[in-house]
Amino acid sequence: MASLSQLIARPTTTVQCYPWSPCSNSSSLKPRRAAGRVRCTLSTDATGGRAEHDGPRLDRRDVLLRLGTLGASATAGLLSSPRLAGAAPVATPDISSCGKPDLGLPPNANLLTCCPPPSNALPVDFSPPDASTPLRTRPAAHSVGADYVAKLNRAMAAMKALPAEDPRSFAAQASIHCAYCNGSYGVEGFPGSDLQVHNSWLFLPFHRCYLYFFERILGSLIGDPSFAMPFWNWDAPGGMRMPAMYVDPKSPLFDPRRDARHAPPELINLDYNGREPTFTDRQQVDHNLRVMYRQMVSLSPTPSLFFGGAYRAGDEPDQGPGPMENIPHGPVHIWCGDPNQPAGEDMGNFYSAGRDPLFYAHHGNIDRMWSVWKGLDPRRHRDLTDPDWLDSSFLFYDETPKLVRIRVRDVLDTDRLRYRFQDVPMPWTTARPTVTPRARSFGTPTAVAASAKKATKFPIMLDSATSVTVRRPVSSKRSKLEKSAKEEVLVIGGIEVDMDIAAKFDVFVNAGDDHAAVGSGGRELAGSFVSVPHRHRHDKKEKKIKTKLRLALNEQLEDLDAEGDESVVVTLVPRQGKGKVKIGSVKIELID
Ligand code: C2O
Repeated sequence: MASLSQLIARPTTTVQCYPWSPCSNSSSLKPRRAAGRVRCTLSTDATGGRAEHDGPRLDRRDVLLRLGTLGASATAGLLSSPRLAGAAPVATPDISSCGKPDLGLPPNANLLTCCPPPSNALPVDFSPPDASTPLRTRPAAHSVGADYVAKLNRAMAAMKALPAEDPRSFAAQASIHCAYCNGSYGVEGFPGSDLQVHNSWLFLPFHRCYLYFFERILGSLIGDPSFAMPFWNWDAPGGMRMPAMYVDPKSPLFDPRRDARHAPPELINLDYNGREPTFTDRQQVDHNLRVMYRQMVSLSPTPSLFFGGAYRAGDEPDQGPGPMENIPHGPVHIWCGDPNQPAGEDMGNFYSAGRDPLFYAHHGNIDRMWSVWKGLDPRRHRDLTDPDWLDSSFLFYDETPKLVRIRVRDVLDTDRLRYRFQDVPMPWTTARPTVTPRARSFGTPTAVAASAKKATKFPIMLDSATSVTVRRPVSSKRSKLEKSAKEEVLVIGGIEVDMDIAAKFDVFVNAGDDHAAVGSGGRELAGSFVSVPHRHRHDKKEKKIKTKLRLALNEQLEDLDAEGDESVVVTLVPRQGKGKVKIGSVKIELID
């Protein structure tokens, strides 16, 4: 599947030059802003500050050739192979090339460097732990005993006690997340590009690698090679609160920059909108279970939908998040962060999220969901086989600490990485959303919302509930076999939103005027889009995420009894960032 950016011209790229470094394109070891620059003339302003230039339009293949990053034979291969023509796995340049982004934060907010310490040595390729090393079993955070809590506290205290220059320190570990999300790195071979590990198929593997090294560092600091980090089991009723060990102010697991309203006993809302729901505890649990079912089952029938949009070297970032990345990943971040901090710190913004120890437990459960999803339907739920995904690579420090280059293909099997997850109940697997009784009678394509505004042409700015009638590519009932071969997918394209703001909108199908009446986990809710603020670099003109949302429809259309209809009514309802999200198009496609 060609990505959008493969089909359209490259946007104008902004190239920066620094007075202390010429605008050459040769070295990858200089700061990234200085490295690999194309057709850039150095100029400084009167104060000797840096100057910006609009670079030429960059074509991906052009850049590869011009930079000489490919040998003659590779170049021939690139041009003749249909897969490689214009495609390549994402690779991070050397960690020493990290350029500190100017996030434009007030001085007291920007306590963190956005770069891990540099390395003098070149990275080594990852090798998996020996098969005889003890298997680490990651426990559910709410289920552990006092001994485990004491051990984790000790490990975290030791990590926090290391100086920031030590790559194993908590400060350095936290900076890894900032570096990979806020524009500190470029994609190797693509000057001016920003590497982004969110909103695409890199999301799950990047964070798996991150936790893998984080866990091993913690274990080595307390001399326990079987140490396993906890996961925040927010998908099960017993785990739907901030885990107790993270909220003890005396613990190194505590972070004061959290939303005080959400301390226990408050139940998490996995679909958090920035507003406090009025659910009873029972309703909240029920809602969360349905949300889990929708994201993990209804919306995740195929690998390409589950992992998110293909993101190859030279592509614009943000090719589209998978369902898990949108929800509950995004809302959990925003629910935890302190809304009284300048940018929702810590968890509510990607630049600072790694500073909250709870972040690692949150991602522990995201990582677990990857394994859980594979087990739900082993025949269909498989890892992607696209070589550009498998060969995408990242750089991390291990516990020794040396710099390691690890590829996505290295982390597909957690047994091989020598860890597993505690087996816990998953009541959401049977929590299939149900049709709202009123919506069934009103929800025909002709019953277009009277109160929702009708959109006749796109793009639109989503400032209030907006409906559009969308033609389906099929209009008769398909057999089970046909449906498992092709998924009908609602594609909301040309989504544009400022990186700095939290945004969320919900997408309803055939809810008509009733979208407000659709109860918790109602079947008419097809899914949601969520954007966690990033802090864009202030030296960049581009402050927007441009992305798309893909929502699988097969199961929903069955339940809504709409499989025989020629069209459906799609209603978009802004929840957060009202009037600040642009929608380019809404259509339905059949995909493999
Ligand atoms: Cu890298 Cu939860 O974010």
